[in-house]
Amino acid sequence: MSAEFESIVTPVPGPRSRALASELAAYEAPGVTYLGDDYPVFWESASGATVTDVDGNRYLDLTSAFGVAATGHTNPHVASAVAEQAQRLMHGMGDVHPTEVRVKLLLRLSELAPGDLTKSYLSTSGADAIEFALKTALLATGKPRTIAYRGAYHGLSLGALEVVGIEKFRTPFAPLVADRATFLPYPGAETSVESAIGAVRDALDRDPDAGAVLLEPIQGRGGVIVPPDGFLRALRDLCYGRGVLMILDEIYTGFGRTGTMFACERENVVPDLLCVGKALGGGVPLSATIGSARVMDAWPKSTGEALHTSTFLGNPIACAAALANLDEIARLDVPGLVRAQQGLLADRLGGLRTAANVRDVRGRGFLRAVEFGSAEFANRVVVRGLAAGVILLQSGPTGTSITIAPPPTIGGAQLQRALDIFERTVRETVPEEAT
Ligand SMILES: Cc1ncc(COP(=O)(O)O)c(C=O)c1O
Repeated sequence: MSAEFESIVTPVPGPRSRALASELAAYEAPGVTYLGDDYPVFWESASGATVTDVDGNRYLDLTSAFGVAATGHTNPHVASAVAEQAQRLMHGMGDVHPTEVRVKLLLRLSELAPGDLTKSYLSTSGADAIEFALKTALLATGKPRTIAYRGAYHGLSLGALEVVGIEKFRTPFAPLVADRATFLPYPGAETSVESAIGAVRDALDRDPDAGAVLLEPIQGRGGVIVPPDGFLRALRDLCYGRGVLMILDEIYTGFGRTGTMFACERENVVPDLLCVGKALGGGVPLSATIGSARVMDAWPKSTGEALHTSTFLGNPIACAAALANLDEIARLDVPGLVRAQQGLLADRLGGLRTAANVRDVRGRGFLRAVEFGSAEFANRVVVRGLAAGVILLQSGPTGTSITIAPPPTIGGAQLQRALDIFERTVRETVPEEAT
């Protein structure tokens, strides 16, 4: 089998993955990695749309590893930029002595972001970018509360958890999570724009301390929920009218995944704050909160001690990686790659509607989901798919769906092959009670 495709040479997981799992179980905090008899495999290397594990098994990736691999895994241009930067300067001095590569990246982000979004704060995780946005909203509006959405995922640090709408992440830590958000149902395809906007209007009426509305333009981890056409535009207008900020979390949807550079561009929407992460660094941890000068200038000028910073602020390796990755996104035309193959992906997944146990198929561009009758069934498909050579990711607030988010650089034959395996797995998997 050509190196472009899957190649399974041991039982999955293989012996080396199993041995590493025992060690991981001994030394890692138990809540982190799910370890079962048939899951996971330990990754050794990755290239483009394929991943190779420590036992030499090769898989086709239908996840982009949480949406990161927009320019393919281990993109050679990004890898060279990282190696070159690592030889010169690995670490700057954050908010004290900056670097040229950071200036270049900030400039590039201001050119890339829509409208008047010209000033950025760089951080490491998506949750960091969200927390910076929440702090900025308070400074800019003087209001501490946020309108957020059920099913929303914005990261798991304590500040981000305040606006996460998936209960299982909040409940164990409830005494630590401040009650500063009003949660609304996220409007799915069946909801009208009028009722979705009416709900925000009512929430703002009831919650005069709300200074911002925060949302994903398509809910990702919440199961790939696409709002009705026109919703983002109408929400933008409402936020202007009410003097509240619109914060868009494009950490999953950004950098071409839905067929435009940012999902908000489809409706010509420019938020007040745009959070990005995941694909930005091409595999190196980096995120950003990008805002208009009007909003960002709510931060007081530093008089020597930053009000918000971190040790690795604007890390030079991450900035060099992001610059090379943004070059690649432009050179490869990642949004165009998605547009070129989204029809194929939609058709193939749409064909699964006839499969027993498939309840829904939805999404946009290269961010799609198949919804199953139960989380147990979705999990079996993920596990069996891995054994057959595709990497899949379970999603949805209760785990009933599987997200399909391939690297946009995936070849047509690779995509077809991965979808063949996925389809066969879905059709051949039987619910547990029927086994
Ligand atoms: C939309 C969205 N926002 C925020 C986050 C959190 O990012 P991180 O895990 O880097 O903190 C994620 C992660 O999946 C996400 O999908």
